[in-house]
Amino acid sequence: MAFQVVRPVNYDRLIDEAAADPEQNLPYWAEIWPSGVGLAARIARTPDIVAGQRVLELGCGLGITAIAALEAGAELLVTDYAPEALALCAHNAGRNVGRAPAQLRLNWRDAAQAAVSPLTDPFPVVLAADVLYERRDIEPLLFLVEHVVGPGGELWLAEPGRAPAAIFLNAMQERGWVRESERCDGPWPDPEDNRKGIVVSIHRLRRAASG
Ligand SMILES: C[S@@+](CC[C@H](N)C(=O)[O-])C[C@H]1O[C@@H](n2cnc3c(N)ncnc32)[C@H](O)[C@@H]1O
Repeated sequence: MAFQVVRPVNYDRLIDEAAADPEQNLPYWAEIWPSGVGLAARIARTPDIVAGQRVLELGCGLGITAIAALEAGAELLVTDYAPEALALCAHNAGRNVGRAPAQLRLNWRDAAQAAVSPLTDPFPVVLAADVLYERRDIEPLLFLVEHVVGPGGELWLAEPGRAPAAIFLNAMQERGWVRESERCDGPWPDPEDNRKGIVVSIHRLRRAASG
């Protein structure tokens, strides 16, 4: 699996610009994250996870996972709150698989957005890579995931071991979701991530058929 991905060259400038943002939303969409790569590799290994299904991705960033999902035959809707991420995801998907996913600008901290079409029609598969790194996102994502994953559906969450992800996973299990987890230790595109020995956990969370 080899993808060609366009990303902003001047990350430091984006960080400087974010300093003026009252919400303190940092430009994490502009980086290639091991979780996105790990989830993409998992899908490439088992395309049946998404093939022929309506699939939603939360926090798509540059589109690494989206490219793998499209290649596997998903009917994909990607979301992110950063318009730059949606634009680059579409560009990168077009470049690698010849078509772009449907896209929706979505801030999961705004609960009212869950009522927006097409999120009102539950999805059998939802993908999310490294979206739980701030505690303020735990409750909004619990709410959104319960809203967008249909009965018997699945959330595939890839994460590199940050504390908010652990809290989220425990809350999901308390709500009756069944979890299977596996680990992925790279290699990652960024040598620095390999040096740090980053390990990504990929969780398959299944909702009860009657939930
Ligand atoms: C760490 S990056 C991961 C990007 C991509 N999934 C990957 O693994 O390469 C987190 C992503 O979530 C998006 N994001 C963060 N907070 C968000 C929010 N409140 N609503 C929607 N997207 C958000 C960011 O813009 C970014 O694209």
